[in-house]
Amino acid sequence: MKFSTLSPALLGLVLSVQAYSVEYTTETGYFLQDERSTDASTFDYTAVNFGLINRTYPADSHLKKHRNYTQWERFYHQVQKLNEDSPKSVEYKVLFLGRHGEGYHNAAETFYGTPAWNCYWAELDGNSTATWKDATLTSAGIAQALKANTFWQKEITEQRIHTPDNYFVSPLTRTLQTANYTFTGLNLPDGSADFKPLIKELFREGISIHTCDHRRSKSHITNLFPDWPIENGFSEEDELWNGVTAETSSAQDVRSSTALSQVFFTSASSKKEAFVSVTSHSGEISSILRVVGHRAFSLSTGAVIPVLVRAERKGRGQKPVASSSIAWTASAHCTAPPVTSVSACVCPSSAVPVTTPLVTDL
Ligand SMILES: *[C@@H]1O[C@H](CO)[C@@H](O)[C@H](O)[C@H]1NC(C)=O
Ligand SMILES: *[C@@H]1O[C@H](CO)[C@@H](O)[C@H](O)[C@H]1NC(C)=O
Ligand SMILES: *[C@@H]1O[C@H](CO)[C@@H](O)[C@H](O)[C@H]1NC(C)=O
Ligand SMILES: *[C@@H]1O[C@H](CO)[C@@H](O)[C@H](O)[C@H]1NC(C)=O
Repeated sequence: MKFSTLSPALLGLVLSVQAYSVEYTTETGYFLQDERSTDASTFDYTAVNFGLINRTYPADSHLKKHRNYTQWERFYHQVQKLNEDSPKSVEYKVLFLGRHGEGYHNAAETFYGTPAWNCYWAELDGNSTATWKDATLTSAGIAQALKANTFWQKEITEQRIHTPDNYFVSPLTRTLQTANYTFTGLNLPDGSADFKPLIKELFREGISIHTCDHRRSKSHITNLFPDWPIENGFSEEDELWNGVTAETSSAQDVRSSTALSQVFFTSASSKKEAFVSVTSHSGEISSILRVVGHRAFSLSTGAVIPVLVRAERKGRGQKPVASSSIAWTASAHCTAPPVTSVSACVCPSSAVPVTTPLVTDL
């Protein structure tokens, strides 16, 4: 796999972007996370009803008067009404963007410190006691996903929340595990969609030279979760990670935008499938938030953010940008453990940063 070129299969995926463009905006005024005054670093989505603001909605007046509705019921009704009242070219969806629980790579970054992690340790498969290539969840990470599971169940019981109509998950092991622990065993309301997440390449983490961004094979994923569908065109081996160059933010945003175009306007019932779960990564969720015009909101491991997104199809004939046309950048790193007592990466003694992969095996 050479630098920034994409596999024919993935290129096909990227270029299958419809011949219209889609403009995304975040509808604010519904969630605390949209407000400038909310501090992401201390925010706990489980303490405040996912951040749903207590308020009335224009659509409330259409509800039957003889029963009490919860905030989440009224919000769902409001979203339905927004969809009903908008033209075919407009769709509203609530994206529940969930970050995976803590993985061994997160623990190792904390252990070694970010500069040393980035310039040396992250390029290895692990150390003598831990493995972080396509990292699995630590016990703390599993606990975070189970906390999300408990919270969803509470929201189902107390708020009668509408559960996701569609589930998507990144193919990296930590997100597969997180989605599984979060949604398995929930007592879903009658008529709700089964939890059968679609494994989607384009929802993976930003692809750096770190081995934690190198996914396992399709066969491995299928063995781990045999009942889960994998999108068409998903390659057996990871054809995007190369250990030398890293996807840039602009390339990633094009990829995220392409991924979203495969979530919105998908079928005749797309407007009715308004709640969508995406289990992904901090960098990828940041990219999705940029694409939908949400303010930056960084999630701690295992956290979830709901976002009400308005998507509008614009015109035809706009040429889609393939992410392969945006160059990736080479990332220099050390070949031996760096000097760790500095804030930037300094390789030991006379060593010069290189851009050749430290680990080339699969
Ligand atoms: C909404 O009100 C309930 C109590 O009625 C409270 O428990 C909850 O935290 C409030 N939510 C927000 C986001 O303020
Ligand atoms: C609705 O809730 C209020 C306050 O909790 C309660 O007094 C009222 O009886 C409820 N109405 C119905 C129809 O359940
Ligand atoms: C390997 O990395 C982990 C962090 O993931 C750390 O806890 C452990 O102590 C390290 N092992 C060695 C031998 O340094
Ligand atoms: C999936 O989640 C269930 C329920 O928490 C758990 O028992 C099972 O071990 C998990 N499977 C994997 C492959 O992690």
